[in-house]
Amino acid sequence: MRVAMIGAGYVGLVSGACFSEFGVDVICVDEDRVKINRLQAGEMPIYEPGLEDLVSSNVDAGRLSFTTDLKAAVGGVEAVFIAVGTPSRRGDGHADLSYVYAVAEEIADAMNGYTVVVTKSTVPVGTGREVEKIFRRVRPDGNYDVVSNPEFLREGSAIEDFMRPDRVVIGTKSKRAQDVMRQVYRPLYLNETPVLFTSRQTAEMIKYAANSFLATKITFINEIADLCEALEADGQDVAKGIGLDGRIGRKFLHAGPGYGGSCFPKDTLALVRTAQQSGHPLKIVETVVGVNDARKKAMAERVVAACDSSVKGKTIAILGVTFKPNTDDMREAPSLDVVAGLQQGGATIRAYDPEGMAQAKQVMEGVKWCETAYDTLPGAAALVIITEWNEFRALDLHRVKQLMGQPVMVDLRNIYNPEEMAAAGFRYYCIGRAALPPF
Ligand code: NAD
Ligand code: UGA
Repeated sequence: MRVAMIGAGYVGLVSGACFSEFGVDVICVDEDRVKINRLQAGEMPIYEPGLEDLVSSNVDAGRLSFTTDLKAAVGGVEAVFIAVGTPSRRGDGHADLSYVYAVAEEIADAMNGYTVVVTKSTVPVGTGREVEKIFRRVRPDGNYDVVSNPEFLREGSAIEDFMRPDRVVIGTKSKRAQDVMRQVYRPLYLNETPVLFTSRQTAEMIKYAANSFLATKITFINEIADLCEALEADGQDVAKGIGLDGRIGRKFLHAGPGYGGSCFPKDTLALVRTAQQSGHPLKIVETVVGVNDARKKAMAERVVAACDSSVKGKTIAILGVTFKPNTDDMREAPSLDVVAGLQQGGATIRAYDPEGMAQAKQVMEGVKWCETAYDTLPGAAALVIITEWNEFRALDLHRVKQLMGQPVMVDLRNIYNPEEMAAAGFRYYCIGRAALPPF
């Protein structure tokens, strides 16, 4: 079995490497020459735990290769996966499908023999039909099926998610295409991973419904956490108390600064636009989008409040800037709003992130980037934890206190315990639990 993966980003590269680990011959194509050069030289263009080893072992085994030459890669493969970006279209929030359609034209032109064309990018319902129209126009003689196979991996645990998914969704009614997809996912099939065959539109919808549901769950617990703070209830215990109900489930009930990343923000907005356009607005998801945007902006105010209502002329230490731990991805990271808000208030920012600083430097201005977590602290009026990297979970609090101007911590991920922080002499602010004065 030979497949081509078009787009070697977070999804394409991980999926390509994992398929090759399944024993499939995979050629990854990207138009970004620098990215392909780095991959050919054995360097990873992104940070994703375990990816470098997985890529190098499969390259060594001769099952995985990289190219910029789409035409050469697509001729002679059984399936071509489209894994290019579908960002928010500027101005209206619809998914920008220009990359998907451009790639579809190129594939149609290049394919020879029966080819299964698989959309792995997250695309609105009906996109598969549009891709099929492109194929009909470019290759009226062509022999192909267009399939939807949405991807559910998370950054930071992408390989584990891909290798042991909760389910695989395959949207096509073509028996021939179903057989090819069964072959590609054969090891998961043998593992008894649930594989759901649906119509193409249904598969496309499942992806948006899943992301929007998860974004709603997070937004719900964020609002409950704020209410707990006001009413002196413990938001963490409430999350546990409801999450133990099997119908609710404990996952994705961690209150924080609002969801970020390359997907929830753009996918919720795109679904809202699709629904409005079709005359069936999704009021819940619309509200989630608005509440989350406002929340990310409001996080800076929490820091200002912790600094006696002003950060003017003060230094603020920031730990963690990526949208979640174990990735270098800065897309829609809550840190972008927090840092901008604090800078507007007149603060000087010293920041550290284990893997995200190279990307962050391209999108954040005026930040003093530090070598270690402790380097951010000298003279800081407050230490703000925005991303819960493991190395921030066990800071030497004695050292932190000595380095800071005042021992004030704003923990937007609840990775410390309020009683312990108060006992260690900190003014400690978190999410969903009222602040305790230091003992
Ligand atoms: P990305 O921006 O990291 O990667 C996209 C890649 O496509 C880039 O390397 C780009 O150079 C390449 N590309 C664009 N046009 C091309 C062309 N004409 N020919 C060849 N290569 C081209 O994006 P991503 O995060 O991997 O997301 C890809 C899709 O997968 C999106 O639709 C996204 O919503 C979806 N998705 C992402 C995740 C995730 O965790 N990032 C998870 C599930 C689904
Ligand atoms: C998310 C989904 O979890 C994946 O299933 C999906 O494939 C992917 O989007 C996508 O479509 O691209 P990802 O964005 O990589 O994956 O990461 P998540 O772990 O879902 O986190 C997203 C955001 O929600 C982060 O900012 C995270 O900090 C936040 N979050 C998550 C919370 O605030 N609380 C939680 O309990 C969970």
